[in-house]
Amino acid sequence: MNNPKDPLNWALFQLMNRQRRAIRDFNELQVADEDVSAVLTEAVLAPSSGNLQPYQLHWVRNLEMKQQVALACNGQKAAKTASTLIVVAANPAFALKTASEQRAYIDGSDAFGQKSKVYYHKQLTMFERILKFGSFFIWTPLVSVAAFFSPVLSLLPLGHLGSKHWAARNAVFAAQTLMLAAAAKGIDSCPMEGFSAAKIAKLLELPQGTVIPLVIALGYRSAEARVEAQWRRAEADLVIQH
Ligand SMILES: Cc1cc2nc3c(=O)[nH]c(=O)nc-3n(C[C@H](O)[C@H](O)[C@H](O)COP(=O)(O)O)c2cc1C
Repeated sequence: MNNPKDPLNWALFQLMNRQRRAIRDFNELQVADEDVSAVLTEAVLAPSSGNLQPYQLHWVRNLEMKQQVALACNGQKAAKTASTLIVVAANPAFALKTASEQRAYIDGSDAFGQKSKVYYHKQLTMFERILKFGSFFIWTPLVSVAAFFSPVLSLLPLGHLGSKHWAARNAVFAAQTLMLAAAAKGIDSCPMEGFSAAKIAKLLELPQGTVIPLVIALGYRSAEARVEAQWRRAEADLVIQH
């Protein structure tokens, strides 16, 4: 493995991070299937709460379906001209399935000592309880009242909405990993939240309770693509030191 302190790693990361831009106009060139696969493999390694990975990445390969998903993205040019569309789908129910798979994996693996097994079992039991009982509708008004008085509680992963928000924000890490991996392969991307979630959920037959935080367009930027200088808020305003 490379020395993580190697300045080349830093230079490469900066390059990838700056190469990734929201591109809204792609050329005719198709992204090779093996490159899409490779990028998805990296996205799968994204971190998630309790390693519960409450999401799926839907690679829309069928041409007709791709066209329909693009239309459902409010006809955005990024979607229409994309070579590939990835629909990021999140559902707390996926996490429950992951929890039991993870439990079985830990139990059957020699890589975990007794201490580690106890730690992971405890953690998984806690998550399973939250996911099973915490997703009941009754929590929603309770969290809503609590958040009214103490807004920092707004993100509690409780209730039928809070649990979906939790799943969605976990999914976003995979989305960003995917876009950075794409940039490293010279593939452009555009994250999109301008779409009809109901239409896409129906097209992909997503299970009940699934939300779609993002659709990602992949392709190669066309010569006409607008790529303005990357503007951000002043760092002093954004990075607060304590
Ligand atoms: C959650 C999210 C949703 C977005 N939705 C759209 C979208 O629907 N359409 C679009 O053209 N760009 C969309 N963008 C791209 C942003 O406009 C873009 O990232 C931002 O202007 C900064 O530009 P840069 O990514 O090139 O640095 C979205 C970005 C994020 C993170």
